[in-house]
Amino acid sequence: MISLEDKVAIVTGAGAGIGRSHALALAERGAKVVVNDLGASVEGSGANTQPADAVVKEIREAGGIAMAEHSSVATPEGGEAIVAKALDEFGRLDILVNNAGNLQLSSFAKLDLHKIGEILDVHLGGAFYVSQPAYRAMIPQQSGRIIFTTSGVATFGNLGASVYGAAKGGIIGLLSVLQHEAARHNIRVNAVAPMAQTRMAADAQLSEYDEVTEASVQADLISPAVVYLASDECELNGEVWSVGAGTVARLFTARTQGIFKHPEREGPLTPEDIAENLSVIRDTEGFVEPESWPAEWAMVLDHFRVR
Ligand SMILES: NC(=O)c1ccc[n+]([C@@H]2O[C@H](COP(=O)([O-])OP(=O)(O)OC[C@H]3O[C@@H](n4cnc5c(N)ncnc54)[C@H](O)[C@@H]3O)[C@@H](O)[C@H]2O)c1
Repeated sequence: MISLEDKVAIVTGAGAGIGRSHALALAERGAKVVVNDLGASVEGSGANTQPADAVVKEIREAGGIAMAEHSSVATPEGGEAIVAKALDEFGRLDILVNNAGNLQLSSFAKLDLHKIGEILDVHLGGAFYVSQPAYRAMIPQQSGRIIFTTSGVATFGNLGASVYGAAKGGIIGLLSVLQHEAARHNIRVNAVAPMAQTRMAADAQLSEYDEVTEASVQADLISPAVVYLASDECELNGEVWSVGAGTVARLFTARTQGIFKHPEREGPLTPEDIAENLSVIRDTEGFVEPESWPAEWAMVLDHFRVR
């Protein structure tokens, strides 16, 4: 039985959808939860204290411990305030679930470039603004779990979501680097890429599948993975899990074996070499997953030892 007894957790954007489910699930396992939510629309406008307050009420009625916090994750000051709430109310911080998010769709051609900050600041900015003060609070205790929320839109794409995809992809970049720094402090950072029917993903392609009921695509099917990643059981670091509708799978970035032409012994690489070897360059058989960018460099330089 995985327990979060004596743990203090923050869930951002926990007033609705997937974040609400995370907050309920973490509290059910014994964590004291700061329920952060700005109470914004799907697009990110407006503010309302009611969603976070209602989730706190729900947790308390179920016998759990929770406090509401209403700042926006989209500024450094908001991030500081959210983390301060956990430290002031509960005296420590063990778990941060970065979940708050908004969505605006536009084709790339029609995109209003003056508005891209409205998405980048919440998803990618928020990941920095809340995680840094949280991480700083975790360092002295040499333990902690940070969970980011990315999206399959970042890895596989979706029409009209260029800014959202870029913001969610930026989170994967942050995760890839932070995992190495966090490991030094026994802090684990991982991410989920959810799939659930919420107000943000209202249709979730359900209309094409008569055999799938709404109950099978609910937000609470994401939270078991977050509870696991938040627990001491989880020693994983830097992983991205796709979670939804009862599925859990790992998403990862890898390198194909590719080609190598020794620049001195075999002559400089030419565009024609590339054209002739496209199938080898793109062949995923025998892919490798370097554990860091320096490790990838070492793999490249190892070619010189072999030849
Ligand atoms: N639903 C899906 O299938 C899906 C897929 C991939 C990723 N996601 C991601 O999962 C997360 C949760 O999405 P959801 O589907 O539950 O959406 P949702 O719209 O139901 O919930 C998002 C919550 O975030 C809050 N929020 C928005 N901006 C905020 C801000 N600046 N500060 C604090 N809170 C803010 C909103 O008030 C809302 O309660 C998001 O990061 C989203 O991008 C969802």
